Amino acid sequence: MDYTRLSDANVITQKYMDSLLIEARYIDSVVADTSIDFLGDTFSMPVMTPAFSHLGNYAGREHNGLEEYSMAAKECNILNFCGMMENDQFKIIADTGAKTVRIVKPYADNGKVKDQMQYAESVGAFGVGMDIDHIFGDKGYDVVVGEDMSYQTADMLRGYVEMVKIPFVVKGVLSVSDAVKCADIGAKAIIVSHHHGRIPYAVPPMMVLPEIKKALEGRDVKIIVDCGIASGADVFKALALGADAAAVGRSMLPSLETGGVSGVRDFINHVGDELRYLMSCTGFAKVSDIDDSVIHY
Ligand SMILES: Cc1cc2nc3c(=O)[nH]c(=O)nc-3n(C[C@H](O)[C@H](O)[C@H](O)COP(=O)(O)O)c2cc1C
Repeated sequence: MDYTRLSDANVITQKYMDSLLIEARYIDSVVADTSIDFLGDTFSMPVMTPAFSHLGNYAGREHNGLEEYSMAAKECNILNFCGMMENDQFKIIADTGAKTVRIVKPYADNGKVKDQMQYAESVGAFGVGMDIDHIFGDKGYDVVVGEDMSYQTADMLRGYVEMVKIPFVVKGVLSVSDAVKCADIGAKAIIVSHHHGRIPYAVPPMMVLPEIKKALEGRDVKIIVDCGIASGADVFKALALGADAAAVGRSMLPSLETGGVSGVRDFINHVGDELRYLMSCTGFAKVSDIDDSVIHY
C-alpha cells in the first residue's frame, strides 16, 4: 500500500472538493451574470490567475509563461496574480496592462520585501501581498531559489499595509487565527491556500473556508481560494462556501504550454462559462447571490 500519498494535501483537497455535490433549481431561474465588483474594480468573473513564478518560454515563443498568462488575464478582464520575481520581470508584467497583484516572498532581507512592494506600486500594480506559507522549511527557515526567507510578525505585515496605498493581500491563510490577524492588520484580501501542499495533511481550503467566512463577517476583507481549482464547478463550490473568488493554478498549465495567450484565454473563458451554467441551473442570477444551501456533503 502506498502510505506516502495519504499525507499529500493535494490528494486530500481533491477528494474533499469532489465530495461536495450541487443540487439544481431551474424553475424561475435566468441566465446568470458572472461579473463581480472586487476591491473597487469590475471584473468579468470571480476567477483569477495564480501567483506563479519561474515559467520559461514555451515552444520558443517570444514571451515567457508569466507574461503570456498575464496577457490572457487582461483579455479576459480577470484579476491577475504573480509570484517571486525581480523588479524588471514585474515591470514587463505590469506593462501588459493586466490588473496585477504582486505576491512578494517573505525574504529575510526585509529591505527587498519593501523595495519590491514599493516598486510594484510605482509601476501601477493593482495590489501587493505576501505568501506567508513560505516562511519555514524543514531545516528551519525556508530557502527559495537560493534566497533566505524569514519570520513575519503581525506588526511587520501591518507595516507593509501602511507603506503602500494599494490593497494588501495575504496568501497562504489556512486558519481562522491567521484570517483574523489579517483583518486586524488591515489586509484587503486573503488567499485561503496550502500552496499545493506546503504542509502534509493540510486542511482543504474549502473545508476551513466556512469558518473563516464566519470569523470575518462584518470585516472588510475579501476571500479568495486556491488549490486544485480546475473548473467552473470548483469555482462555484468555493463561492457557495463563502469565497468571493477562486484562483486556478496548475490546471491552466497545459493550456499555457500549448496555446500561450489564446490557450489560457480559452481555458479561463471555459471555466467562466461553466460557472455561468451552474449558477443558472441553481437559481443564482448574480455571484453575490450564491450560498451554501445548494451544496450537499
Ligand atoms: C510553477 C509554480 C510557481 C509558483 N510560484 C509561486 C510564487 O512565487 N508565489 C506564490 O505565492 N505561490 C506560487 N505558487 C503557488 C500557486 O500560486 C498556488 O498557490 C498553488 O499552485 C496551488 O494551486 P493549484 O493546486 O491550483 O496549483 C507557484 C506554483 C507553481 C506550480
